[in-house]
Amino acid sequence: MSNDPLLQPYQLKHLTLRNRIIVTSHEPAYPEDGMPKERYRAYTVERAKGGVALTMTAGSAAVSKDSPPVFNNLLAYKDEIVPWIREMTDAVHDEGAAIMIQLTHLGRRTRWDKGDWLPVVAPSHHREASHRSFPKKMEDWDIARVIKDFADAAERMKAGGMDGVELEAYGHLIDQFNSPLTNELDGPYGGSLDNRMRFCLDVFRAMRERVGDDFILGVRYTADECLPGGNGKAEGIEISRRLRDSGLIDYLNVIRGHIDTDAGLTDVIPIQGMANAPHLDFAGEIRAATQFPTFHAAKIPDVATARHAIAAGKVDMVGMTRAHMTDPHIVRKIIEKREDDIRPCVGANYCLDRIYQGGMAFCIHNAATGREQTMPHTIPKADIRRKVVIVGAGPAGLEAARVAAERGHAVVVFEAANKPGGQIRLTAQSERRREMISIIDWRMSQCEKLGVTFHFNSWAEAETITAEEPDVVIIATGGLPHTEVLSKGNDLVVSSWDIISGDVKPGTNVLIFDDAGDHAGLQAAEFIAKTGAKVEIMTPDRSFAPEVMAMNLVPYMRSLQKLDVTFTVTYRLESAEKSGNEITAHVGSDYGGVAKQRSIDQIVVNHGTIPLDDLYFELKPGSKNLGEVSYDQLLAGVSQTTERNPAGTYQLFRIGDAVAARNTHAAIYDALRLAKDI
Ligand SMILES: Cc1cc2nc3c(=O)[nH]c(=O)nc-3n(C[C@H](O)[C@H](O)[C@H](O)COP(=O)(O)O)c2cc1C
Ligand code: SF4
Repeated sequence: MSNDPLLQPYQLKHLTLRNRIIVTSHEPAYPEDGMPKERYRAYTVERAKGGVALTMTAGSAAVSKDSPPVFNNLLAYKDEIVPWIREMTDAVHDEGAAIMIQLTHLGRRTRWDKGDWLPVVAPSHHREASHRSFPKKMEDWDIARVIKDFADAAERMKAGGMDGVELEAYGHLIDQFNSPLTNELDGPYGGSLDNRMRFCLDVFRAMRERVGDDFILGVRYTADECLPGGNGKAEGIEISRRLRDSGLIDYLNVIRGHIDTDAGLTDVIPIQGMANAPHLDFAGEIRAATQFPTFHAAKIPDVATARHAIAAGKVDMVGMTRAHMTDPHIVRKIIEKREDDIRPCVGANYCLDRIYQGGMAFCIHNAATGREQTMPHTIPKADIRRKVVIVGAGPAGLEAARVAAERGHAVVVFEAANKPGGQIRLTAQSERRREMISIIDWRMSQCEKLGVTFHFNSWAEAETITAEEPDVVIIATGGLPHTEVLSKGNDLVVSSWDIISGDVKPGTNVLIFDDAGDHAGLQAAEFIAKTGAKVEIMTPDRSFAPEVMAMNLVPYMRSLQKLDVTFTVTYRLESAEKSGNEITAHVGSDYGGVAKQRSIDQIVVNHGTIPLDDLYFELKPGSKNLGEVSYDQLLAGVSQTTERNPAGTYQLFRIGDAVAARNTHAAIYDALRLAKDI
C-alpha cells in the first residue's frame, strides 16, 4: 500500500472513499433538456475511470421551477431525471468511484426571463449585480414550497443511486438567508443568526427525513463573505459549528468569499496569475475549529499542493476540479508514478467563462474534455506507421505532433523561431499569463518522450518538406497580425503583438483600436499604460474585449483601472494621418453620423491575424488531396481518404490560425481531431 497521503482511503460515515482527491461540483453545461444524457455521462465516467475518489456532479442542479438555470444546469425538480441519474451513477460506481450531486435553489442569482418566467425570489429585494434580477421577497408559502422541493429532489437523487447530496449554499438562496446583507425578513427566518440559519437547517431536516441516515448530506457554504456587513470569519466559524452540531450534515465544503460580482467570483475561483490555494489555510482553520470532515477546492492545480493540503491536515478531501477538466487521469498517473505526464491546468478559465456566456465548458488545451464520445483522452496506436511532417511548433503544431507520435508515427517538426510556442509564447510575456507556457512545455516534454524530431530556427521551404518524403504534411504556421483595417494611414499603425513582444516602444498618448476583442488588445494596453502612458481602448462593439470574457477580465480591470486607461465603446477608428509629431485619428461610428478626431502619438491595432499560408499553397499541387479536408470524415472520426491528384505523394492539411484566426482551443481541437485518425 502506498504511503502517499493523497492515496489513503477516507471513511465518510458509511462511505469509503478510495483516496483523497475529489472533483467538486461544477456544471459543465452539457445537459440536454436539463438531463444528464450520454455526453454528460461520458464526461463524468472518464473522471471516475481516471481514479478520482468522489465525483460531485451537477453544479447547482435546480430543485424548483423558480430557480431556472443560468448556465444549462440539471433540472432536479423533474421526475424524469431519475433514470438518467441511475445510468450515470451505475457507470461511475462500476469504475470504483463514489458519486454525489449538488442541489440548489439559486434565489436571486438567476433571471425571471428564463425557464417558466416565474418571479425570482430571495429573502430581500436586493438585486444581485451579476444576474441583475430584482427579486420578490419570499413569503411563508415560498419558504415552505422550496423546503419541500429540496426534500423531493434529494429523494429523486437517492432513487437514482447517488451516494449523497450537497447543498450549494454560497451565493445561492441558502446563504442569501444566512447573510445579513441579503436577508431582510422578519420573524422566524430573518433577524438573528438563529433565525437566518433556520431555513438552511429546515431544508436539511426535510431532506434527512426523506433520505434516511445511510445517505451523505453536505453543504458548500461561505465561511467568510469577505464583505463589509456580511458574515465574517467569526460568524463563519459559528455557522460551521452550528451546521456540525445540527447532526444533519456529514461534511463541510468550505468557500471563502462572495460571488455576487465577477470580481468576487474570481476571488473565490482564482484564475491564472492569481495565487494558488489562496483559501486552503482558511479551510484548515475551519477544520481545526470544527474537527469535522472538511472539503475544499480553489486553485489547487498541482499534485504537490494537493498532497500538502492532506498531509498538513488542512482538509480531509481536496478538490482538483479544473485540474480534472484538463486531465481526467490524475490519480491513475499518481499511482503509476507518472506525475510528470499530468497535463497541467493553466488556470485559463476558458472552461468557466464559456458557461457564463451560454456555452459548454471546454478546456483551453484538452479538446477531448466534454467530447469524450468522439475525442480520446488516451490516443490509440495506428495500424500503420507513417511519416508525418509538421510545420509550426505553436499549440496546433505541437498538439498534432504529440497526437501523431502517440499514434506511433515518425514525426518531424519544423519551426522558424528558436523556441516552440508561437502565439502562446507571446501571451506568456505578460506576468499574469505566464502559466500559459505550460501548454507548450507539457507538449514538448510529451513529444520528447515520444521521440519527435524538432528543427528549430528552420524556415521550411517546399523542398525541405518533400525531401523528408512524408506521407502526411500538416501546416500549422499560424498567422501574422492583421493591421490593414483603415481606409487611410495603415502605415502609421503598429500591432498589439509589436507592443507585447517589445519590438515597438510604447508611445505616451496611445489609441488602441481593438475590434478583435481578445487578450492581445488588453495585454498591449497594460504594457503601454504601465509605462505611465495615457491609453484609450476603442472598439466599435457594444462592449470591449468580448472574447476575454467575465472572469478573465477581472485581473485586467484591477490593473487597468489604476492606470491612465479609458474605454470607448461603439466608435470605429476609420483613418489616420500624420500632423507634425502627432497622428490625427479620424473616428466614426457604425451607427452613423459621427466624425471625431483624436490627436495621439501612437495607434495600436488589434484585429486578429492573417494566415501564414504561403507554404501550404506551394505544397498543395504536390499533394494527393490538394489540401482538401473531407468534413464528413473529419466529423465522423475516420481517416481522411480524399484523393484528387494521382501524381501526389503526400496528404496535406492545415490547422489552427494558418486556416483562419481563431483561438488556442480551436487550434488544439483542429489538431486533435485530424491527427487522431492519421
Ligand atoms: C465549469 C465550471 C462550473 C462550475 N460550477 C459550479 C457549481 O455549479 N457549483 C459549485 O459549487 N461550484 C462550481 N464550480 C466551482 C468548482 O466546483 C470549484 O470550486 C472551482 O473550480 C475551484 O476549484 P479548482 O481550482 O480545483 O477548479 C464550477 C467550476 C467550473 C470550472
Ligand atoms: S480551461 Fe484553463 S482553467 Fe479551465 S480546465 Fe482548462 S486549463 Fe484549467
